Amino acid sequence: MAYSHIERANDLEPSDGHRILREECPLHHEENFDPPFYVVSRHDDVLGILKSPEIWGNSDGPGVFYQRGGVLGSTDDPDHARQRQVLREVFLPSKMRLLEKRLKAIRDDLWKTFEKPGEGDFVELFAFPFPALAIAEILGVNPNDREKFHKWADDIVAGLGGGDLKLVDKANHELWDYIDDLVETRLTLIDQGDQLPDDAISTMTIAFSNGDLSRREIQRLGHQLLVAGHETTASLLALMVYRLSKQPELLEELKNKPELIEPAVEEFLRFDSPVQGLFRTNSKTCPVRNSMISAGTKLQAMFASANRDPEMWNDPDSIRFDRDPRLARQHLAFGWGVHYCIGAPLARLEARLALEKIVASNTRIEVLENPPISPPFILRGFTELKVKWN
Ligand code: HEM
Repeated sequence: MAYSHIERANDLEPSDGHRILREECPLHHEENFDPPFYVVSRHDDVLGILKSPEIWGNSDGPGVFYQRGGVLGSTDDPDHARQRQVLREVFLPSKMRLLEKRLKAIRDDLWKTFEKPGEGDFVELFAFPFPALAIAEILGVNPNDREKFHKWADDIVAGLGGGDLKLVDKANHELWDYIDDLVETRLTLIDQGDQLPDDAISTMTIAFSNGDLSRREIQRLGHQLLVAGHETTASLLALMVYRLSKQPELLEELKNKPELIEPAVEEFLRFDSPVQGLFRTNSKTCPVRNSMISAGTKLQAMFASANRDPEMWNDPDSIRFDRDPRLARQHLAFGWGVHYCIGAPLARLEARLALEKIVASNTRIEVLENPPISPPFILRGFTELKVKWN
């Protein structure tokens, strides 16, 4: 793809790219891509698309390529609603409270590296492993299998940017088989009348026993939780550290007022949305901004630009922890409506735990060079973040 508005919107500092899209071509047609697609970038247009799932659906996949036969984020109602109803339970506030203690232990273990002065890649040392291990906890991966799981997560996520596709295929199959084995173990427990561990695979296995999910759906849903929740959260963590290093006054503000940590997570999500924008496909020809778009066209709803729209946000290109709390959570970093990120409570928990550590610890993290941006243009994050700490 030629260097385009879309890529500029994914720059290290994306404000210009977003502004150009919103002001000059609020309905942009990206012709240099196969398949070509449309982009909406203004807050009200993005919201308009997300509010019409009956026209703008996910069954052709939420990415730029047409991919059918997926689950949850890659499908529409009634399958979507049925699958989501099962997984809803996994992310309830009560479950997050139980998880918090275990995640703190994982975080503290990873943080040990930063207790003695050093230099390294923050993505590799913290931002990447923390979310992978958190999802392993949620799913019910055996602690002895964590390394294996982490490797699959790495290989699958590398594939999003066009990595080694053979490796991705191998990792996909191994992960599906692994999930299926976990289901088998739980079915045996059910047969024996034993108690099931409290995790997502158990929840889905019970749904299978009740006829609400198939085994294939369980494999695909487990896989989707990993793919949707890994790189996105890793990006958020790395972007937060990048911003705090570049604007140390923000870190000072959080040290003086730790009660701002939760609003800060929302502001980082708004300012540096790790998911630039996902795609919908229209089931019938329909108008968008006075243009008729033929049925079966891909359109990207650019969440990240909506999150910088001055029509919605005062001073959108500054990071401010003092925004009106009623507005602060209305960013579109987790989408909106029926497909709103089901893992948002977990992502928020991980980000808060990471930020609490960064704020409370005496370690100073300094970014050493401009980080490389991850290749897939629908996501925004760093492939590495070279830092030193003392
Ligand atoms: C900062 C981290 C995250 C960001 C920015 C993010 C962003 C998003 C966005 C924008 C959507 C909406 C998709 C659409 O409208 O088509 C979404 C959906 C989804 N997310 Fe997240 N996400 C994050 C973390 C997570 C985590 C931790 C998990 C799970 C472990 C997760 C699992 C999912 C799933 C399964 C969906 C599909 C939901 C559905 O279609 O009903 N996400 N996410």
